[in-house]
Amino acid sequence: MSVAIDLANLVAIALFIYGLHELNSPATARRGNRLAMAGMAIALAGILIQGHGAGWPAIALGIAIGGIVGIYAAVKVKMTAMPQMVALYNGAGGGAAALISTVEHYVAHGSAMNDVIAVSLVLSAIIGAVSFAGSIIAFLKLQEVMTGRPVTYPGQQVVNGAVLFCILGLAVWFVVTLGALPAWGYAALLLGALVLGVLFVLPIGGADMPVVISLLNSFTGVAVAITGFEIDSTLLIICGALVGASGTILTVAMSRAMNRPLTNVLFGAFGAQGGLEVAAAGGGPQQVRSTSADDVAVMLAYANKVIVVPGYGMAVAQAQHSVKALADQLEKRGVKVLYAIHPVAGRMPGHMNVLLAEANVPYNQLLDMEDANPEFPTADVALVIGANDVTNPAARNVPSSPIYGMPILDVDKAANVVVLKRSMRSGFAGIENPLYEMPNASMLFGDAKASVDALTAAVKAL
Ligand code: TAP
Repeated sequence: MSVAIDLANLVAIALFIYGLHELNSPATARRGNRLAMAGMAIALAGILIQGHGAGWPAIALGIAIGGIVGIYAAVKVKMTAMPQMVALYNGAGGGAAALISTVEHYVAHGSAMNDVIAVSLVLSAIIGAVSFAGSIIAFLKLQEVMTGRPVTYPGQQVVNGAVLFCILGLAVWFVVTLGALPAWGYAALLLGALVLGVLFVLPIGGADMPVVISLLNSFTGVAVAITGFEIDSTLLIICGALVGASGTILTVAMSRAMNRPLTNVLFGAFGAQGGLEVAAAGGGPQQVRSTSADDVAVMLAYANKVIVVPGYGMAVAQAQHSVKALADQLEKRGVKVLYAIHPVAGRMPGHMNVLLAEANVPYNQLLDMEDANPEFPTADVALVIGANDVTNPAARNVPSSPIYGMPILDVDKAANVVVLKRSMRSGFAGIENPLYEMPNASMLFGDAKASVDALTAAVKAL
């Protein structure tokens, strides 16, 4: 039996790795998810077959409760609320790792503790608890239950450092005594880790949360992998390592795409002052040209090549289906329509890809930034739909700009740029966009969905 279980685990692990690989492209991402799900089903079946005697009713109850909550949440959650849902699930993973360590400490390893187990127990308890508490704060910020602004106070890093120092002291005590520290010591260790998780995420702004969630996700992966050593599970070690590694890669990729070092995301309190106030105040005076749906429709209908540039505003307006309907109309008239996707457009990795895939936009029309930028100089129209920062030329040529150096989509190089947004308010970075004052740019003000629907109707009427 044990050989069969080992083989099943091997198949599950291979499916996880191949599934992850398939997430590389929107065209194969669905299949990747299905393969990983199949892997998870095989892994779970193996664990259940191994048998847990009297634990069966508890396991069945756990699966039933978790399954119902999971299915309900997945069906109900809106696409724009996906980051906070991921935060909650990630928190659950970290919390589970901390709980398993606690149970292992008090029940399983009470008498048979060695230094490897002691280090594993204390590390997964600390990392899991930090990830749990940090993820809950990330969820509360994104759900707007609490302020999304960075919460800062004088001496913040000193307080964080002091808490970390106390946790490390207790951890050393735990390892040196092979877990024989008093109950209050272990409770203080767990509580300290929870407090550190809260303190770590509080000074980070709501809009930076996707990066933080990805980082906490890698923490959870590490905690879970270490838990694998405690309960002697190769499956858990490999799964945890996969989560830890992919979370780390994603965190680094997101920071790079924003051209901000990770330390700036974590400790820079981006948006604490300045930027977001400008956004709230509606930005400074700018000389811009406002246009109408009818004028833009003529421009689009007689174009050879139109590049759609979606951003956060398209997600807010849920305009993706309208965008596809407009593209269909244009394609009927022989216009070539492409989509330029910036890696951090929107508020979560792959945000635009997911929305456009939902609207059945063909994958071969979606261009990454590197492939899209050479297309703009030959485009007749760049249609910017609720995107702002990712099109801001200040990132290229204003060294004092907070986003200077961030790679952007070169929409200003198109013959005409039409920007669909509701007002002159700024985007996430809270800064003005000189694109809007350029001679080839015009603004179509209004909710993105309403504007795109008006464009489709006007193109149809031509
Ligand atoms: P933003 O720069 O945030 O701009 C979005 C624009 O959409 C706003 O200027 C807003 O202007 C407009 N908008 C909002 N609701 C709208 C609606 N219903 N209809 C029409 N327009 C609407 O978005 P972006 O260009 O996608 O850039 C993303 C930003 O988020 C970057 O700064 C990036 O660094 C940051 N960020 C991204 C991620 C990931 S992983 N994607 C993670 C963290 C941070 P109005 O209010 O005038 O309408």
